[in-house]
Amino acid sequence: MRKFLSLFFFFCLTGGIYQANGQTIRISTHETDLILKVAQNGRLYQSYLGAKLLQESDIAKLPVYVRGGTDGSVSTRGWEVYPGSGAEDYFEPAFSIQHNDGNLTTVLNYVSHQTRPLDANVTETTVLLKDKVYPVEVTLHYISYANENVIKTWSEILHKEKKPVTMSSYYSSMLYFQAPTYYLTEFSSDWAKEAQMSTQPLFFGKKVIDTKLGSRAAMHAHPFFQIGLGQPVEENKGDVLVGTIGWTGNFRFTFEVDNVSNLRILSGINPYASNYEIQPGEPFVTPEFIFALSTEGAGKASRNFHQWARNYQLKDGKGDRLTLLNNWETTYFDFNEAKLEELMKEAKDLGVDLFLLDDGWFGNKYPRVNDRAGLGDWEVMKSKLPNGVPHLIQSAQKAGVKFGIWIEPEMVNPQSELMEKHPDWAIRLPNRDTYYYRNQLVLDMSNPKVQDYVFGIVDRLMTENPELAFFKWDCNSPITNIYSPYLKERQEQLYIDHVRGIYKVFQRVKEKYPEVPMMLCSGGGARCDYEALKYFTEFWCSDNTDPVERLYIQWGFSQIFPSKAMDAHVTSWNKNTSIKFRTDVAMMCKLGFDISLKELSTEEQTFCQQAVTNYKRLKPVILDGDLYRLVSPYETNHTSVMQVAPAKDKAVLYAYDIHPRFGEKLFPVRLQGLSPEAQYRIEEINLMPGQKSNLPANQQTYSGDYLMKVGLDVFTTGKTHSRIIELTEMSH
Ligand code: DGJ
Repeated sequence: MRKFLSLFFFFCLTGGIYQANGQTIRISTHETDLILKVAQNGRLYQSYLGAKLLQESDIAKLPVYVRGGTDGSVSTRGWEVYPGSGAEDYFEPAFSIQHNDGNLTTVLNYVSHQTRPLDANVTETTVLLKDKVYPVEVTLHYISYANENVIKTWSEILHKEKKPVTMSSYYSSMLYFQAPTYYLTEFSSDWAKEAQMSTQPLFFGKKVIDTKLGSRAAMHAHPFFQIGLGQPVEENKGDVLVGTIGWTGNFRFTFEVDNVSNLRILSGINPYASNYEIQPGEPFVTPEFIFALSTEGAGKASRNFHQWARNYQLKDGKGDRLTLLNNWETTYFDFNEAKLEELMKEAKDLGVDLFLLDDGWFGNKYPRVNDRAGLGDWEVMKSKLPNGVPHLIQSAQKAGVKFGIWIEPEMVNPQSELMEKHPDWAIRLPNRDTYYYRNQLVLDMSNPKVQDYVFGIVDRLMTENPELAFFKWDCNSPITNIYSPYLKERQEQLYIDHVRGIYKVFQRVKEKYPEVPMMLCSGGGARCDYEALKYFTEFWCSDNTDPVERLYIQWGFSQIFPSKAMDAHVTSWNKNTSIKFRTDVAMMCKLGFDISLKELSTEEQTFCQQAVTNYKRLKPVILDGDLYRLVSPYETNHTSVMQVAPAKDKAVLYAYDIHPRFGEKLFPVRLQGLSPEAQYRIEEINLMPGQKSNLPANQQTYSGDYLMKVGLDVFTTGKTHSRIIELTEMSH
């Protein structure tokens, strides 16, 4: 086998240094081709990125776009794959460094590449590039997932100059497109306003989406985007690129339309205040940029992303998820053992799997009775919970549910014992007034001692309470006073080393506790990237659980994340809507509750119990099915989505009337993803006790073909009205 592998590498390792004119590198999925070619000048260019080419012989005909080149190709377009600064391309470079002699230019030549299968579905390609003049090299990495149609790419920068070199930009990837028009869909955000989608055309010049928050990094902009090529992004048609950067810190996407109307997309860490110094021989690895190209609109790209995430990226992506009852919105900081025990019983009554204890359980000298004190002191608060966490776990077990706990381990309140003991562990300016966000500071995760401490919080809780079945890991503050006492004169590394420190801790936690499910939370959904999700089973989409708002937020996040990763809870936000509407909205994601049953009538409680039973029965479809977004809340007064089991024998259809007008003309919803020949029985579920379905098609059977061509009348003119419909294939 070894012999075979080395032979394989010998054949794949192609090209000789600086003499590789004509080399072609093909990075493919079942539906996409990314073709790179080496030009006469020895440099590497993107020759093609688009739908998979069927004829191998056509690949040789693809042009190489070389700026000022002599390859017989269009000479005004230089599509260099990883352009350094200072060469003949006058647009934003992928990479800029200053060499030891002060020179600012880098020109990278192709040296070699390797292609190797990681398994039957996954292929890794690496391409080595080197500068002829300076001892600087870049390795480009590509991993392609054939079935999922997703490509992951990043770069690794290495130098062997005598002294350290400083990089002022170091993107993960650069992609080029040529289309008559370009439309960017971005996802802006704020507390309780996550994943708001808006679209704009891109004209000459640059549009940048970035964040400078350090921590809680996606609070104002999420690290993903969609590009409509030739037309605005549509759900089911058109060429669409969906891209995301796996970085839980400051990121930057630069979309630049150049002088000849090509679009260049640069994705990576935001170099803002981060001129990063690299030591000789120490590689700098950029974060993963992950993309899917669809010729059938955003819906297809989303399904590709969802499948890929479940199969390869998300912690326990193929596993089950626990339904839960959280106490945050019921009690906030005001609880004691008796109150929690009551809620545990309610969790059992509801039928959920776990009780989740939120913020406010710790701190003694500075008790965490509000958000002004105690962060950092992870000892149980004796006055509130005299018998500690073990007793709470026992109570949960007695009630018949599992027990999970909230932590926010990367933060500290100035009023805490931790701050008294280790004032130098907080990111804080020594010579200016301190600015606090939510009365707290961010711990300096670049400091290995702080990393040990943060890991120790989880490790100690788990060691003392091996039955702990869930963590909610929160992060409420951006970095507000950017100075690390640990990094001293290397302050420009802080934004990056801080995030790297966080990953070191996440990695240790995952290695030691691979089975423990964990919710990523950041004052709502301000941490939502695919690097963090390697270590988390799910994320909290938003503190905004008003079901109307949630329909938009979940629509937004679903563009990139599978339902299984998106936590949605039933709460008392917008009590003007019925408990059914609130539950029906949360049902399409990973369901939880953050409400006391005492707030609900007996009827409503019975409804919730029945909904949990339905949810558990339908989990394989909801969590692992293919999502089809049928009607957008951005375009109509209604919205509808459906999830279809991989075998197409079961589907769940959701229909919501948000704010229909009086006497509004309704329209049937055409379903998708079913098998046209199969017959499906329609049944409305999640009805209030005693309520009879008035869905015209209820209990009827229709072919998949009918449902997808004619559709179903599922909408009404009722305000905040909802229906959940189960479709079951009838056996022949
Ligand atoms: C912010 C989170 O988004 C909430 O769900 C809650 O956990 C609070 N923090 C607790 O402080």
